[in-house]
Amino acid sequence: MPKTKTDDGLLEIEGLKIEIERKKGALTLLDGVNLAVKKKRSFGIVGESGCGKSIAVNALLGLLPYPLRVSGGRALFKTGETERELLSLPAEKLREIRGKEIAMIFQEPMTALDPVFNVEFQMGEALEFHYPLMGKKEKTEACLEMLRKVNIPRPGDTLKSYPHELSGGQLQRVMIAIALINSPRLLIADEPTTALDVTIQAQILDLMNSLKAERDTSIIMITHDLGVIAETCEEVAVFYAGQVVEEARAVDLFHKTAHPYTMGLLRAVTSLGGGKRELYTIPGMVPAGGEWKAGCRFADRCEQKMARCTQAMPALMETGEAGRRCRCFRWGDETEAVGKTGAAGAVQAEEA
Ligand SMILES: Nc1ncnc2c1ncn2[C@@H]1O[C@H](COP(=O)(O)OP(=O)(O)O)[C@@H](O)[C@H]1O
Ligand SMILES: [Mg+2]
Repeated sequence: MPKTKTDDGLLEIEGLKIEIERKKGALTLLDGVNLAVKKKRSFGIVGESGCGKSIAVNALLGLLPYPLRVSGGRALFKTGETERELLSLPAEKLREIRGKEIAMIFQEPMTALDPVFNVEFQMGEALEFHYPLMGKKEKTEACLEMLRKVNIPRPGDTLKSYPHELSGGQLQRVMIAIALINSPRLLIADEPTTALDVTIQAQILDLMNSLKAERDTSIIMITHDLGVIAETCEEVAVFYAGQVVEEARAVDLFHKTAHPYTMGLLRAVTSLGGGKRELYTIPGMVPAGGEWKAGCRFADRCEQKMARCTQAMPALMETGEAGRRCRCFRWGDETEAVGKTGAAGAVQAEEA
C-alpha cells in the first residue's frame, strides 16, 4: 500500500474543547485545538502560564479535575493496527493506556511521588500494574536498569531511597525512569525542568533527547520557555488564551517567527547554556480562562495591533510554507466565527 500522509501519525487531536461548568453557565477554557504528534518525534507546546497547555494534555488521559470537562473534539491514538479515540474511552481502558502506552512527567516530581514509599516500591508499582506476573527479582533488575539509563549515579542506593533524600534533579530522573519503564509510545512532559536550575535543566533535556532516540518514543514537551523547545522539539504549537496561535517546525518558529506573541516569547527566552534570564517579559497578562473579548485575544498586548484585530477573530491561516500556520491578520483576512462561550465555529460545524 502506498504510504499515506497519516502513516507516521501517533496522536491526532481535532477540535479539542474544554469547558468549566459554573452556575451561571459553562465557560470555554480551551477552544477547538488541533494538534498532530508524529511517531518518534518531539512535539512542543509553548505559551505563558494559564494558556491551556496542561488542561489540553490532561484531558487526553481523563485527568481533568471537576468542574472541568471535555465538551468537544477527538483524539485519535494510532498504534500499529489499532486506532483508539481517547476522549470517549471508558475510564478502565484509559487506565490501561496511562503509564504504559502514554506516560506523563510533571514539573514537581514531589507531587507525583509518594513520600512514604521508597523509589523501588514506586517504580515496582508502575511495572506491576501492567506486568502483574513479573517476579520480584526480575522487577528489581528492571528498575536498576532503568535507573542506569537515566544516569543515576548509585542506582542500588537510589532504589532504597525515599523521595526526600534525593535532589530535585535526581527526583526528576526517577520520574523519567518511572515514566519510561514500560516503554510508552508517548511521553508527555509538562514543564519537566521548570523547577530545576539551568545546568540540571540542560542535563535532563539531553537525557530525554537521547532516550527518545533510543526507545522510539514520541514526546509532547510542554513549556513556557522557547529555549526548552529549541533544545528538544521538531514541531511546535504556540498556545495563547486557549487557542493555538502559531504552529510550525521548530527551526521555522525561531528563524521566521510569524505571530507577534511568539516574537514576544522569543524576546523573553531563557538562555539554557549561559544560565542568564533576560528581564524582558511581554507587557500585560494572559486574559483569565474564558474571559475573552471579541477579536484577537492577544490584541491588548500586541505591538502590531491594527483596527480590525479587536473586531474579529483571525483564523489559523496558512503562511505559504508547509506545516506552517498563524492566527494573525498580518497573514491574511480569514476570520473565525466565535460563539457566545468563545467556541470555534468552524470546528463545531464539522462535528455537527
Ligand atoms: N481546576 C481548575 N479549576 C478552574 N480553572 C482551572 C483549573 N485548571 C485550570 N484552570 C484554568 O484553565 C486555564 C488553563 O490552565 P492550564 O492548562 O493550567 O494552563 P497552563 O498549563 O498553560 O499554564 C486557566 O485559565 C486556568 O485558570
Ligand atoms: Mg501547566
